[in-house]
Amino acid sequence: MANPSLLILPGDGIGPEVMAQVTRIIDWFGEKRDLAFDVEHDLVGGAAYDKHGTPLHDDTMARALEVDAVLLGAVGGPKYDDLDFSVKPERGLLRLRKEMDLFSNLRPAQCFDALADFSSLKKDIVAGLDIMIVRELTSGVYFGEPRGIFEEGNERVGINTQRYTESEIERVARSAFELARRRGNKVCSMEKANVMESGILWREVTQRVRDAEYPDVELSHMYADNGAMQLVRAPKQFDVIVTDNLFGDILSDCAAMLTGSLGMLPSASLGAPNADGRPKALYEPVHGSAPDIAGQGKANPIACILSFAMALRYSFDQGEEAARLEKAVEQALADGARTPDLMGPEGGTPITTEEMGNAILKALDASL
Ligand code: NAI
Ligand code: MG
Repeated sequence: MANPSLLILPGDGIGPEVMAQVTRIIDWFGEKRDLAFDVEHDLVGGAAYDKHGTPLHDDTMARALEVDAVLLGAVGGPKYDDLDFSVKPERGLLRLRKEMDLFSNLRPAQCFDALADFSSLKKDIVAGLDIMIVRELTSGVYFGEPRGIFEEGNERVGINTQRYTESEIERVARSAFELARRRGNKVCSMEKANVMESGILWREVTQRVRDAEYPDVELSHMYADNGAMQLVRAPKQFDVIVTDNLFGDILSDCAAMLTGSLGMLPSASLGAPNADGRPKALYEPVHGSAPDIAGQGKANPIACILSFAMALRYSFDQGEEAARLEKAVEQALADGARTPDLMGPEGGTPITTEEMGNAILKALDASL
């Protein structure tokens, strides 16, 4: 059987720096776990613009649709700020999301014990936290028509439309229920059914999908404003949260910060199934290209490494190996490995991007 295929798009700024550490880890799995991938590297964002005059070459787009998973670093940087909107680095990422039809955005919020003091919340509220927010990514108020700024009488009016079809709600709900079955079997759906018709439909459809197809999964409903309060009051009550594009944008950023640094946060975006039944998938750290620290060996590679762990779990059915990698990250942190973004008030000596890679590889070796 052919090896699973992986397209790596390091991108700009710290993207290539953090991806270099992921590549070492991928090689480790090939050598030590007999888990080899067919890896291709290509350009995206400013790097692709510099070479091709476009932030995503058509050939790269075509490969992204064919491979089992895409792993992306980050795009953008001051060098490209004055480019025309149509060729800005971000357009490369948006094109991938659009053409791969990545409607389900998975954002975990997980607290590593060694970093529990970093949280803005009390340690016992976040210690052991492990929740997943599933955000609908391709519809809702960011896309609905009509939209625009219009003249109305003698003033202007700005309009955006929250719009969801039943099938759009169904597919993201299924994605959340499938995920819940691999985790704590519990989903909380968040909307504003009290004041929005799209929320009424959201509540009705998520309940219908659960009753018909996932009776084994526990489903509850919560108004999104209450959800925001509950997330900072008692986040451990949740397992999987499913919500729309707008609420998901806000709630996932909020949940992410419960656990500390931007340099720690992975994400996955899943789309329609490929020929083999697996969803098209893009994995990427939540952070951007961090031009302020690029080229200095200061970037924390963990967000990108944990994104690869998500790929192992959700695209390659390697849940045990994903857990092995997550435990190695946890172990490296417990051993005191800290890039500058993870330095607490107690101080100490920070390590480089590559040294963090070394620490995680060492912990992987120790796991055998
Ligand atoms: P950013 O996420 O790049 O950086 C925000 C702050 O967090 C900076 O101080 C940075 O040094 C720090 N940081 C980020 N990742 C880190 C890591 N792995 N280790 C240690 N520190 C880290 O966001 P910013 O500064 O708003 O945007 C910079 C560029 O990145 C812009 O061109 C923006 O458009 C682009 N961007 C790209 C994204 C993507 O590719 N998905 C997402 C967000 C921004
Ligand atoms: Mg956001």
